[in-house]
Amino acid sequence: MATVAELLQPVEADLDALLADLRSLIGAGHPILQAAAEHLFAAGGKRLRPGIVLLICRAISPDGALSQRHRRLAEITEMIHTASLVHDDVVDEAATRRGVATVHSRFNHRVAVLAGDFLFAQASWHLANLDDLAVVKLLSRVIMDLADGEVRQGLFRYDTGQSFETYLEKSYCKTASLIANSAKAAGVLSALPDTQLDELYRFGRQLGLAFQVVDDILDFTGSDVQLGKPAASDLASGYLTAPALYALEERPALSGLIEREFSQDGDLEQALELVRGCEAIPRSRALAEGFAQEALEALAWLPASESCRALRALPDFVLSRLY
Ligand code: IPE
Ligand code: IPE
Ligand code: MG
Ligand code: MG
Repeated sequence: MATVAELLQPVEADLDALLADLRSLIGAGHPILQAAAEHLFAAGGKRLRPGIVLLICRAISPDGALSQRHRRLAEITEMIHTASLVHDDVVDEAATRRGVATVHSRFNHRVAVLAGDFLFAQASWHLANLDDLAVVKLLSRVIMDLADGEVRQGLFRYDTGQSFETYLEKSYCKTASLIANSAKAAGVLSALPDTQLDELYRFGRQLGLAFQVVDDILDFTGSDVQLGKPAASDLASGYLTAPALYALEERPALSGLIEREFSQDGDLEQALELVRGCEAIPRSRALAEGFAQEALEALAWLPASESCRALRALPDFVLSRLY
């Protein structure tokens, strides 16, 4: 199975330029905010979201060329994503991200909150400067969704009565909204017809949901080193994701442990074992596979090209992170 670098190969040079650009863009703030923002960019993420935007732009442009505005959109997408990670790590009290200390542990909480705000604000400024109201609406909605998702997640902590729907709505807000709306925005900048814009949105949405379910499985099956962030932390924090929700259906004993918030010795270990030892992980995998399949179907109309091939390989890449 291809690595993310192989997959993003058609836009590799664009992504390198994007990272350099991003670092000069954030250079405009106070040195402390700059250092805090730079810290995570330097650690290097997968750059999946700007990669998707750039691949879409190339796949739908007749000569495969990228405009300056498309490049800027890709940068804005990665800025918003990184800002959301900085804030998410504060909310989760996570110590590592991308294999390095999180911004709040490297600096402090105040700096992390402000650095996240600073990145969101910068993203908004550059967004406004694209001078396309439809695109501004799509991406500012994402910033609302991100905050909404974090709040929802907090409200349902340790709540064993929550529905699967609640979990999927939260996942849409925290993860799928950005991928869906930036994919659609790429189409808006290229003046695609509404039917194709809807398909780009659907592609990003289903891919984002698959991505989040996979991330939620990896939290149970991966290690800190492999993930570059703390593993086995969702359940411990009371976040009930797909594996936990499926396990609750199969293992009634689990709900007692969750409801008393793992307050007794060995509770958490026992709960993790219950989740890992039933059909919850395979069922979660099947759920992710369904979303990935739907993402692939949403691209049926794209004309064949190298970038199109890369986009069509993305759903499988997302699933391959499990193996
Ligand atoms: C992390 O996203 C947040 C989730 C949606 C699970 P990525 O796994 O894409 O993070 P980076 O950008 O590669 O670090
Ligand atoms: C990620 O969801 C979505 C964000 C907007 C940060 P998670 O809360 O599962 O992300 P990780 O596991 O901390 O990367
Ligand atoms: Mg988190
Ligand atoms: Mg996670």
